[in-house]
Amino acid sequence: MTSSQAKSDVIVVGSGVAGLSAALAAAEQGAQVRVLTAGEALSGSSWWAQGGVAAALGDDDTPAFHAADTLAVGASLNDRHAVDVLVEEGRRAAIDLLAGGVPFDGGTLPDLGLEAGHGHRRILHAGGGATGAMLSAALLSRVLDHPTIQLVDRTPVDGLLLAAGRVVGVASRGKRYRAGAVVLATGGYAGLWGRSTNPPGNRGVGLWLAWHAGATLADLEFVQFHPTALNLPGAPAFLLSEAIRGEGARLVDAAGREVIDPLLPRDVLSRALTRRLNDEGPVYLSLRHLDPSFVEGRFAGIAAQLRSWGLDLPRDPVPVAPAAHYCMGGIRTDTDGRTDLPGLYAAGEVACTGAQGANRLASNSLLECLVFGGHAGVAAVRDEPGACAHWPAGPLPEVGEQEAGQTAPPPTHYPVGSLARRLDRDLGVERDAVSLRSLAASLPHPGVPEAPPDHLTAGLVARAALLRNESRGAHYRTDAPQTRPEWRGRILWRQGEPPRFEEVLD
Ligand code: SIN
Repeated sequence: MTSSQAKSDVIVVGSGVAGLSAALAAAEQGAQVRVLTAGEALSGSSWWAQGGVAAALGDDDTPAFHAADTLAVGASLNDRHAVDVLVEEGRRAAIDLLAGGVPFDGGTLPDLGLEAGHGHRRILHAGGGATGAMLSAALLSRVLDHPTIQLVDRTPVDGLLLAAGRVVGVASRGKRYRAGAVVLATGGYAGLWGRSTNPPGNRGVGLWLAWHAGATLADLEFVQFHPTALNLPGAPAFLLSEAIRGEGARLVDAAGREVIDPLLPRDVLSRALTRRLNDEGPVYLSLRHLDPSFVEGRFAGIAAQLRSWGLDLPRDPVPVAPAAHYCMGGIRTDTDGRTDLPGLYAAGEVACTGAQGANRLASNSLLECLVFGGHAGVAAVRDEPGACAHWPAGPLPEVGEQEAGQTAPPPTHYPVGSLARRLDRDLGVERDAVSLRSLAASLPHPGVPEAPPDHLTAGLVARAALLRNESRGAHYRTDAPQTRPEWRGRILWRQGEPPRFEEVLD
């Protein structure tokens, strides 16, 4: 077998917490697993995640309380079953991580933090605001030690291979990797915005792959803006974790006066801050009233990063503004990561199980990666016990031929910076029909086969936001500010079909 036709039982695309969890779960089912990652193994959004893992571990807490908070923030768009799986299995996953020695702050009796929308202290953190990095590193070391998992870095996937209506592998730079099942765990698309807390690579490539293979996408209009990202000329929109506000940080004006409740839900706070920034001037995160040694210890990673921009976290007011942060929408899956395309699974931010509803509760994101990543890995093996039999007997078609997925994207129409600026302006915390229509018209129609990933995703999100003629969760239309009961459902998209609406039931 040549390397260009190497086979595995399961291919996982992406090496964040969802991908690594899927790989480990599949390998525990006895599968040979190959993890393909576009860049270095530890470079995606999981690695960047500061905030923690929410799990009902406190004496006064239960998964039912955690579910209630998740539903309250999700604006009636959550899939109830997915929420129950998330909070119940999430609690077990957190206990397993603690037992497995993942170094959460506080050790085996971890310090439980508070974040907006949570009625109880239930956030596990690690590394002084470096939870994602610590968790990713712990999972990666298990993956690297595993005898049946192979990790291949610097291997961007540019097409899914299809045969007889099912996904049978992936293409990367002219090489073909065959598999019984493929799990996409490529992250979200919030990196498309200019002001974004995400790594620049989070541009919706997983959605593009799934779309061209014929899988359904859902909830694309729901993009969460984090209220407190750094707003300093010349510096990136570096995340100032919600955990900082959970520990008592204030939001103040230039005179040091507190201007707003720092623990409002993210969507409400982002809108309030956007209006205030437009109308009244800058807002700052202030920790001056807290013990400086506590701040330096608890948020060591964040404090160190801020020093590189000349800011002293315990003493200086830190200018903040909202930034695109997390996508509730993605490839439609069930709670086992199954898409509607045989052989294709998805988990983590690239997927849409419906667990996060129209607005994600803080620190439910790494949790979804752990829980649904694991589920996808198991299902990819169990659903397809004889999946290798689906491999065509002869050689697979060359990439770019009829049955192969799309090849490497053509150049973008906009220079990247200019698309990012348009999204900031027209598809931000607040949107309206006029700007959405103009944005959608400037991007290729989703039916255009050569639309590059950036443009396909941005165009679908703009169209979804235009269609949803109401405000709900993270989607706020200034020209339709009410939540409308008839819009309680998902907008579903599949290549070659008009968008469909699917009601959400209790
Ligand atoms: C944060 O630390 O504020 C981000 C965590 C999250 O998005 O849940």
